[in-house]
Amino acid sequence: DLPARVRIHEVGARDGLQNEKSVVPTEVKAEFVHRLAAAGLTTVEATSFVHPKWVPQLADAEQLFPMLGDLSDVALPVLVPNERGLDRALALGAHRIAVFASATESFAKANLNRTVDESLAMFEPVVARAKADRAHVRGYLSMCFGDPWEGAVPVQQVVRVAKALMDMGCDELSLGDTIGVATPAHVQTLLAELNEEGVPTSAIGVHFHDTYGQALSNTLAALQHGVSTVDASAGGLGGCPYAKSATGNLATEDLVWMLQGLGIDTGVDLGLLTATSVWMADQLGRPSPSRTVRALSHQ
Ligand code: HMG
Ligand code: MG
Repeated sequence: DLPARVRIHEVGARDGLQNEKSVVPTEVKAEFVHRLAAAGLTTVEATSFVHPKWVPQLADAEQLFPMLGDLSDVALPVLVPNERGLDRALALGAHRIAVFASATESFAKANLNRTVDESLAMFEPVVARAKADRAHVRGYLSMCFGDPWEGAVPVQQVVRVAKALMDMGCDELSLGDTIGVATPAHVQTLLAELNEEGVPTSAIGVHFHDTYGQALSNTLAALQHGVSTVDASAGGLGGCPYAKSATGNLATEDLVWMLQGLGIDTGVDLGLLTATSVWMADQLGRPSPSRTVRALSHQ
């Protein structure tokens, strides 16, 4: 059965903007987040407290986060790779954080400069301290389906790291198809295996990139399995600077269009959201790759 309601975890301001060649001005980012909230998105990932040399696009996290202080009824998660990042986030009053692991060694090295197990060891005190602070903790898991260096990723390899994140105390797991190679049956196989190993569907979100045009099909497969948390990026912005061949995320507009058609409630105003993505595309100087944005804005 399909869920009655889906919570969209909007990642445009983080996954989207981290991958832009140009650095978007802080004021524009703040307006972007405000407009996304005004469009009805209740979870808007705001930025990352990562090393500024690794992701210069988000080096203004200290300036941006306080500019969102008025959005008290919107969840504003931030990415935090280590205790240094957690200190920075907690100092600004963040109470939703996300750590980000990899199912593959190649991406753990490229993205975190660590082996998989070293990165899990790095996250352990982060999650423990965040939980002690009553913060909500999301555990991202990248390369759940395929990896640009290693090819197809065995399901058991994904399950091992997923369980480690849950055992550590993560409240939620987000399954990342970082390079967009997943297909629906693979999605359902992984979800079933995670359930089998004790990870409940209620704790699982899905995070699809649309490289091969499969993001919506994969989302539907996950919904059919009972998943009700879906990551998406306004206008289809996104990618990961440390994963070659990662393109934009599933566009939030494409997702909302499908969910509306299925009669699934999201609370999002598609007109306001599309206007936001058109405005952002103007700021970035190129059109949104989202079909729905193009159709609704007659671009
Ligand atoms: P490292 O070079 O190994 O860092 O990078 P280190 O631990 O050796 O520390 C070196 C120096 O950096 C130290 O300074 C630290 O204090 C400083 P020193 O003592 O030498 O003066 N430092 C920091 N400064 C500020 N903030 C910090 C921080 N950490 C250390 N947080 C590190 C390791 C994890 C820091 C680095 O690899 C990093 O920042 N990586 C982040 C990469 C990233 O953000 N990638 C994109 C997000 S993941 C993604 O997009 C996938 C996702 O969307 C899901 C999917 O699609 O699959 C989530
Ligand atoms: Mg991503």
